Amino acid sequence: MTEINRGASAKIIDGKSFAAGLRARIGAEAAKLKAEHGLVAGLAVVLVGEDPASQVYVRNKSKAIAEAGMQAFDRPLPAQTSEADLLALVGELNADPNVHGILVQLPLPEHISAHVVIDAIDPVKDVDGFHFINTGKLWAAGGTLVPCTPQGCMMLLRDVLGDLKGKEALVIGRSNIVGKPMAALLLAENCTVTMAHSRTNDLPAVARRADILIAATGRPEMVRGDWIKPGATVIDVGINRIPALSDHHPRKMRLVGDVAFEEAVKVAGAITPVPGSVGPMTIACLLRNTLIAACRQIGLGHPAV
Ligand code: GUN
Repeated sequence: MTEINRGASAKIIDGKSFAAGLRARIGAEAAKLKAEHGLVAGLAVVLVGEDPASQVYVRNKSKAIAEAGMQAFDRPLPAQTSEADLLALVGELNADPNVHGILVQLPLPEHISAHVVIDAIDPVKDVDGFHFINTGKLWAAGGTLVPCTPQGCMMLLRDVLGDLKGKEALVIGRSNIVGKPMAALLLAENCTVTMAHSRTNDLPAVARRADILIAATGRPEMVRGDWIKPGATVIDVGINRIPALSDHHPRKMRLVGDVAFEEAVKVAGAITPVPGSVGPMTIACLLRNTLIAACRQIGLGHPAV
């Protein structure tokens, strides 16, 4: 078993300040698009139902869009909305020239198929990069609209490590939102990629080989300090709400990642904290995708962000 080096402490990867810089550059490009082409980039944000966590996420996304000088079109729908009605809204947004990006917040209620809805979004407006066309492009040719959370993680990794060529990268979690696109991006950067999941045998031993460890499991503090190769770069995608165990406030909750931070920080070379590192990068990359989509839709090249 790897010895935990209790004296050392990892570099804390400050995704929040990286995201702030990226958002400022996106805002400047959005202003240029407006001044030179009279175009205000627009993002439609669709939320079905009243899940409190999803409500917070979409509120933060719409707010960030407005702060970057772009336009947010909030489209909240009741939980009992039918799949047909949601598809009709997606059709309306596909046809709307003021809407350059469409985001349908996941998860959707059980009676609606996320695959059917995502597939109905015009791929050029698919700022989540979840449409089959964009998924295929990502694996086959490098994507234009790349899923926001993995894209944000890649930016942080490049900033910390520079060239990723030849590094052993482990992605824990195989979701379409994070795990699978993350693996595609790491492979494109010439990493040797392993994908682990709930059925992986001896995950701690697999993890101890990784120079880069991406945790996207949705299981609070699952990755322990003694799973981490000394000096590894750890990216924690998890946001989990658990009881704070406070004597004074018995119902108080706190946010933790998928990595046991206090243990991992003593072993890793660099690590993202939760909250405040990957989350802000996801939002910044959504703004970036909205700008990219708007530029493409009027025949401009890739904006300088
Ligand atoms: N639910 C959790 N993460 C995401 C995301 O990045 N996009 C959408 N649409 N839904 C999500």
